[in-house]
Amino acid sequence: MSKRKLKVSAIKNGTVIDHIPASNLFKVISILNLDKIRNQITFGTNLESHKLNHKAIIKVSDKFFKDDEINKIALVAPSAKLNIIRDYEVVEKKVVDIPDEVIGIVKCFNPKCITNNEPITTKFTVVSKEEIALKCHYCEKITSEEHLKIV
Ligand code: CTP
Ligand code: ZN
Repeated sequence: MSKRKLKVSAIKNGTVIDHIPASNLFKVISILNLDKIRNQITFGTNLESHKLNHKAIIKVSDKFFKDDEINKIALVAPSAKLNIIRDYEVVEKKVVDIPDEVIGIVKCFNPKCITNNEPITTKFTVVSKEEIALKCHYCEKITSEEHLKIV
């Protein structure tokens, strides 16, 4: 009857991460280390969406992320929606929460910061979750959303 089809095939078991801003798809892939796992992964980008002009979707078979693992993507994809799939059915839907502390992932905006000059993992306190602002644990400078760079 309907000619509608899924643009990216359904999966049997695993996690579908939907409503990712297309511009940040590859940051999400990198934050979740999806380039380093052997699970089947399919993704689509620049798909039509009502909420986002250009959205991306990632489907990872047989992978169920821990909350603290998935919340890392909130920095670059706060609108992401997770769908947990078991035996082809969506059994749970989750949203992502911006964490209070960010360890690694993001570069400090201050070029003089020790983390940009020595092999030290970055560490920030999230001082604003609306327009994301991260305060560096080492130099106390603020890295704002527009300057957010993934390590
Ligand atoms: N999905 C999938 N494999 C399945 C079931 C669902 O890949 N076996 C995907 C769908 O393609 C969709 C997402 O999981 O992108 C959520 O599925 P569903 O809740 O059925 O879709 P919607 O109602 O459109 O969800 P929402 O409006 O919350 O985005
Ligand atoms: Zn710093």
